[in-house]
Amino acid sequence: MSTEKKLLRSLAGETLPIPPVWMMRQAGRYLPEYRATRAEAGDFLSLCYNSELAAEVTLQPIRRYGFDAAIMFADILLVPDALGADVWFVTGEGPRLSTITRPDGLAPLKGKDDIHDHLAPIYETLRILRRELPSDTALIGFAGAPWTVATYMIAGRGTPDQGPAHKLKAEDRATFEALLDLLTEATIEYLSKQVDAGAEVVKLFDSWAGSLNGEDFTKYALAPAKRIIAELKSRHPGLPVIAFPRQAGEAYIGFAKAVGADGLAIDTNVDPAWAAEHLQPDSCIQGNLDPKHMVTGGQPLVDETRAIIEALKGGPHIFNLGHGITPDADPENVHRMLEAIRS
Ligand code: CP3
Repeated sequence: MSTEKKLLRSLAGETLPIPPVWMMRQAGRYLPEYRATRAEAGDFLSLCYNSELAAEVTLQPIRRYGFDAAIMFADILLVPDALGADVWFVTGEGPRLSTITRPDGLAPLKGKDDIHDHLAPIYETLRILRRELPSDTALIGFAGAPWTVATYMIAGRGTPDQGPAHKLKAEDRATFEALLDLLTEATIEYLSKQVDAGAEVVKLFDSWAGSLNGEDFTKYALAPAKRIIAELKSRHPGLPVIAFPRQAGEAYIGFAKAVGADGLAIDTNVDPAWAAEHLQPDSCIQGNLDPKHMVTGGQPLVDETRAIIEALKGGPHIFNLGHGITPDADPENVHRMLEAIRS
């Protein structure tokens, strides 16, 4: 592939001497310039829906660190918001949504094709970014995977064990499956429009995939990802896709091939040497430094960064964290990580 964008080369299967790098939540509260722009926007959701400011916070970590990719600033809960599940964020606590377990179930929700007016500012953010990003920086769009988004819609908030979603699955499987279907279809339309607006790669975040076991994992994590990716690739031939079935454990094996993903993001629990042996033959591996090193720094940060690169140097690799960088991270530690990768 003739591109100067290293991230796209890795996703196309090239093994590069120095892997491209970006970080989950790279635009976030650990950066003082992010906190200032968020204050200007008013609150988190207003920032997501303000295209100029969302593009600005997306660009902040690119200017500061020169990452190889920018991920558009938005959230996985914008899809439920667009479907009519009124999302709001409680500062210091996290998201809240109106739940779909009321007697009328999915009835209050909109259809998969009725989300675009609401999501138009996100597409505009992408158009701005395509104009403003450096020519060697790849632009990533994203969405939450249906299961993960459903866990928030069913509980009305984040939950430690996704209990309410498991309960609905057990007690009213028809409603549960109808919700997953609606989210699968809406996600296809949303990601497809992101590509039309300039996203060059899309990533599917299944943050709670690890709480699905056995046949449930196949039906509710693997099958929806496969359907979304197949439809996107038929509409946008050659589009690279990164899948993130977080904490899937052994179920990571064969996942990228089964869903048709070009890249597989691994969480902090995965041993990079095991990933090199069992996962890298099928796809580019993205990951997986523990975000705690961004708080604690020092020699362990450097050693762990080098160990991950060493373990995955035999195949395509995108360096990243195993989960999002946390608000208490020291921005200087990101420079130390980059130095360890690039020197
Ligand atoms: O920089 C980037 O990575 C791009 C933007 C991005 C955000 N959220 C911004 C955000 C992305 C890709 C996400 C994905 C997301 N959102 C996921 C999947 C990845 C993961 O973390 O597992 C999930 C589960 C969500 C839902 C969500 N959004 C929660 C549970 C929370 C509250 C927890 C928290 O960290 O505060 C959010 C808020 C959120 N999304 C913030 C950011 C920068 C913090 C909001 C703030 O500024 O106060």
